[in-house]
Amino acid sequence: MQQHKVQGQRNLHPRLDTFRMLCGGKKSYLAAAVCVITLTSMVTLSYLQLQRHSHLPKIIQEGSRCRGKITNSTITALKDNRTFIISPYFDDRESKVTRVIGIVHHEDVKQLYCWFCCQPDGKMYVSKAKIDVHSDRFGFPYGAADIVCLEPNNCEPTHVSIHQSPHGNTDQLPRFEIKNRKAETFSVDFTVCISAMFGNYNNVLQFIQSMEMYKILGVQKVVIYKNNCSHLMEKVLKFYMEEGTVEIIPWPINSHLKVSSKWHFMQDGTHIGYYGQITALNDCIYRNMQRSKFVVLIDADEIILPLKHPDWMTMMSSLQEQNPGTGIFLFENHIFPETISTHVFNISSWNTVPGVNILQHVHREPDRKDVINPRKMIIDPRKVIQTSVHSVLHAYGNSVNVPVDVALIYHCRVPLQGNLPRESLIRDTTLWRYNLSLIMNVNKVLYQTIL
Ligand SMILES: *[C@@H]1O[C@H](CO)[C@@H](O)[C@H](O)[C@H]1NC(C)=O
Ligand SMILES: *[C@@H]1O[C@H](CO)[C@@H](O)[C@H](O)[C@H]1NC(C)=O
Ligand SMILES: *[C@@H]1O[C@H](CO)[C@@H](O)[C@H](O)[C@H]1NC(C)=O
Ligand SMILES: *[C@@H]1O[C@H](CO)[C@@H](O)[C@H](O)[C@H]1NC(C)=O
Ligand SMILES: *[C@@H]1O[C@H](CO)[C@@H](O)[C@H](O)[C@H]1NC(C)=O
Repeated sequence: MQQHKVQGQRNLHPRLDTFRMLCGGKKSYLAAAVCVITLTSMVTLSYLQLQRHSHLPKIIQEGSRCRGKITNSTITALKDNRTFIISPYFDDRESKVTRVIGIVHHEDVKQLYCWFCCQPDGKMYVSKAKIDVHSDRFGFPYGAADIVCLEPNNCEPTHVSIHQSPHGNTDQLPRFEIKNRKAETFSVDFTVCISAMFGNYNNVLQFIQSMEMYKILGVQKVVIYKNNCSHLMEKVLKFYMEEGTVEIIPWPINSHLKVSSKWHFMQDGTHIGYYGQITALNDCIYRNMQRSKFVVLIDADEIILPLKHPDWMTMMSSLQEQNPGTGIFLFENHIFPETISTHVFNISSWNTVPGVNILQHVHREPDRKDVINPRKMIIDPRKVIQTSVHSVLHAYGNSVNVPVDVALIYHCRVPLQGNLPRESLIRDTTLWRYNLSLIMNVNKVLYQTIL
């Protein structure tokens, strides 16, 4: 830090000289104006330098050992009870930082410090964090936040603690592993992130069908942020974990905050929207940044159906070729109401399984004049900095809307336009293209799990 202070002063001196030259001599209106402008820019520049310097890591303890319990829980409350740490990630896309994905109270959390322990010399470095609360808070007092700290130049810290103060004893603080430190090579092409499974989730048949569709379309991995589900679902999840497809991230957000099941604040005393969905999505992107070529941000009742390609990989290769430099691909949502059924594919053994048989729902709601269909995304995770649900907030590179004749989101759920007669819906049997392999694969899973 000493070194940086000296550097700062050295930089200030030439400007001081300019100031004396311009402002010290005889007065004229022009000279006075130039003088004021110079002075203002000097003050601004110095302020910006100070700002930057205040975020540089400082050694605060030499020779102290790296203490503190390493925590492996997905949501960790800090002592203030206003800051919740999900996970730190190494990010050197701009400068060498640790980016901690967390949840903070948007007003109450003003200062946080990263305590880095450098091995093997055991020096402790403290950096003041930049706290960036995501703009898509939708009125709730708590929101997703990036807690970003510059890392020490001379070491690659493997763990970090987060503290409200740059002083004091940190022996009792939990330590978090900094993920993404080592460059990994891609192990998978597509990872689906399902941001919150909650409310005793028991839509077993639709879940298994979605999973098998994802696999048919080219997915190797599905990450599920699991708050709560039924006993039967637990059995199915266990099967997919053993198969290697599913990774469960425990998501006990309601033991820390009052969660809303709505996405926007209803003045009802809740703390955060939709079970902290936005935080989970951001965590999922960073968690899979080095291992997955693409990350797909959809819900378990949504399937991106390609219309011109047999699977996602051929579709994405073609989309990337047509849109060089684009890292975010947005697909339009279309509702296939679970209230409108066909008798085709009424498979008797499936009727005892709770949940929706999507093969029987092939009518979609027409577009409405004044309503824009929301979109969901397939992204290159390395191009995204912050994401929302239907678009990204900050990214390197462009977003592109994928036309509906290339792909659409098959979204089977309760209707949005419930009053429409069956004749007003559009029959769309794209899903049936996959009927043979889908039925075979779903049967395999059912007989190995719950039938
Ligand atoms: C996390 O740590 C606890 C106790 O230290 C241990 O029981 C548990 O198995 C660990 N979980 C994981 C996922 O490593
Ligand atoms: C899941 O939530 C329901 C209420 O929505 C509750 O009755 C049930 O006990 C919870 N299950 C678990 C395993 O926490
Ligand atoms: C922190 O929040 C939890 C859940 O809201 C509450 O039970 C606990 O008492 C709080 N602790 C403090 C120190 O405020
Ligand atoms: C499916 O078949 C069962 C009898 O096997 C019948 O009770 C049910 O109404 C049928 N459902 C649909 C949507 O065709
Ligand atoms: C089911 O898939 C097969 C093979 O792709 C196809 O020939 C058949 O027409 C499909 N069934 C329906 C009802 O679309």
